[in-house]
Amino acid sequence: MSAQRLDKWIANTCGLSRKEVKDFVRAGRVCVNGETVHNAGMQIDPDSDVLCLDGKTYTAQQHIYIMLHKPLGVVSASRDRTQKTVLDLVPAPLFRKGLFPAGRLDKDTSGFVLLTDDGDFAHRILSPKNHIQKTYLALISEPLPEAALETLAAGITLRDGTKLLPAEVRVCTQDRRTVQIKICEGKYHQIRRMLAAVGCPVQTLTRTHMGALALDPALQPGECRLLTETEKEKITQRSN
Ligand code: URA
Repeated sequence: MSAQRLDKWIANTCGLSRKEVKDFVRAGRVCVNGETVHNAGMQIDPDSDVLCLDGKTYTAQQHIYIMLHKPLGVVSASRDRTQKTVLDLVPAPLFRKGLFPAGRLDKDTSGFVLLTDDGDFAHRILSPKNHIQKTYLALISEPLPEAALETLAAGITLRDGTKLLPAEVRVCTQDRRTVQIKICEGKYHQIRRMLAAVGCPVQTLTRTHMGALALDPALQPGECRLLTETEKEKITQRSN
């Protein structure tokens, strides 16, 4: 679908007159991609923009893809009886039934979480077979020994017998206590267990990229926004 006037698209989609839509816009009852709009004649792309009238979402997009900056202390689940979840951080205009986190971060890990209602896409980016790297930055309590780089790059076997695929590891600071690790799988506490296994327990951990897409630095912890189509595709590409 090509770009269209906002008032025309809402009028057709919601069965309203253009005059009614203009009145709604003037009253601040219409949002595009989570932002209240003031120009009923603005151009929108129904294939990628999410419109919201009085809190109800309208979009031609079949699925929704949201980048969230997960703060510490929030669980990566769709529902939890007692604790705040990543879905609790999604504002009403972007919320959809069926939304879930594509890949989990521990409660005490911060960073990039993708929320979507597209199960096929989630499977595609999470399956280790597709070699889509997730990039983490870890602060560790001991300098990473040179030998650990090779051990982790070869793919280690954890004490409980779990065999891990090769990881790409880079030391980022002179004191060797900040390391970047790229992995294609998502086993339970994987990065923490990998680094503990080489004698370097993790102090803080954050996910910075999924595939070639970096967490938007403009997003504060707890904030989220829709992905553009180009950004969504970048998740499926190799990181540098
Ligand atoms: N590895 C971990 O140990 N924790 C996370 O949250 C993600 C990867």
